[in-house]
Amino acid sequence: MLTLDRHPSGRHFLQIPGPTNVPDRVLRAIDRPTIDHRGPEFADLTRSVIAGMKRVFKTQADVVIYPASGTGAWEAALVNALSPGDHVLMAETGHFATLWKRLAERLGLVVRFLPGDWRHGASATAIERELRNDAAHAIKALCVVHNETSTGVVSSVAEMRTALDRAAHPALLMADTISSLASIDFRHDEWGVDVTVGGSQKGLMLPPGLSFNAISPKALAASKAAKLPRSYWDWQEMLAINAKGYFPFTPATNLLYGLHEALEMLFAEGLDHVFARHDRHAEATRRAVRAWGLDVLCSEPAEYSSSLTAIVMPDGHDADAFRKVVLDHYDLSLGQGLGRLTGKIFRIGHLGWFNDLMLCGTLAGVEMGLAAAGVPHRTGGVDAAMAYLASPAAPRVAQAA
Ligand SMILES: Cc1ncc(COP(=O)(O)O)c(C=O)c1O
Repeated sequence: MLTLDRHPSGRHFLQIPGPTNVPDRVLRAIDRPTIDHRGPEFADLTRSVIAGMKRVFKTQADVVIYPASGTGAWEAALVNALSPGDHVLMAETGHFATLWKRLAERLGLVVRFLPGDWRHGASATAIERELRNDAAHAIKALCVVHNETSTGVVSSVAEMRTALDRAAHPALLMADTISSLASIDFRHDEWGVDVTVGGSQKGLMLPPGLSFNAISPKALAASKAAKLPRSYWDWQEMLAINAKGYFPFTPATNLLYGLHEALEMLFAEGLDHVFARHDRHAEATRRAVRAWGLDVLCSEPAEYSSSLTAIVMPDGHDADAFRKVVLDHYDLSLGQGLGRLTGKIFRIGHLGWFNDLMLCGTLAGVEMGLAAAGVPHRTGGVDAAMAYLASPAAPRVAQAA
């Protein structure tokens, strides 16, 4: 027998920055019998979830859905729009930017990687300088991770557009919104993004297994001339068949049921309220961290993430040993430090299906865990968070109608 719940009673707190808690409504939707993906009902499902995802991406352009994790949608963005040897400009914001770079290099692209300290977002000034220096327009795409899940730092995608425009550079703009979509405001059309990459397992409140590309007309035109080999990821074939309500291969039918339900929940709450709720929980979390006397990893308040908060461990204390104590004592999973941050930070995910009391429970688990693990800190973090949540300063969360 496979043991998935190591605790005898109560529910597990899954407060990693994705996969996130899946709402009961979504679980019930996924639980329905699988239908014929070439049958008459299926086309309505396809059309409905694609239309809903366009609202989430804030685009009139095409959106495709892959039965794949986010990494698949990263690959799809690059192989559809680019050719072998093309130069790509990326910014080292953290672990996920580094993984996207590695993927690009494995595909035969030449990556210009602007160095970063993993505590700041991508610098629009440095990017504009790099673009201006590229008089021959060898750079074919600028790729940026909107919300760096490994650090809890947001990069301004709108500023990336401005940098491209000010440098009069024709490169495509690609944005990874895997941990910001449906949590932090994102505007594919308004910000002139050419390819946006998304995933199901974070703000969309679904299990892992679906990922997305939103594709501008410019990116679609580029894909007709682009030469990187592609088959499964091919946009043209997908879009042609999607237009009839179907997929070129077997779609993840039950995850699409879940997506349909999750979209209904997001639209009922209202995307602006969803973003305000994330802002509220992020601010309450940061107040708890400050009260504990610990540091938020993100150095720039304007770049704080509303999806997650990364917290620096005091010197001489291992973040993974602390996380183990928290899991063993309180059945609470916290995010680990990734790449060069392994053991140095822990991350609290406060995105997706979440509310004030879930946050209070999470912060209580962290505060009790700091004491149980012997990590130097002050008490009062949960109190600070509660005081903020109860104050008029905190943006209100939408009440159900
Ligand atoms: C910002 C970001 N990009 C890309 C990925 C990779 O996605 P996946 O693990 O679903 O393949 C992740 C995963 O957490 C992520 O947070």
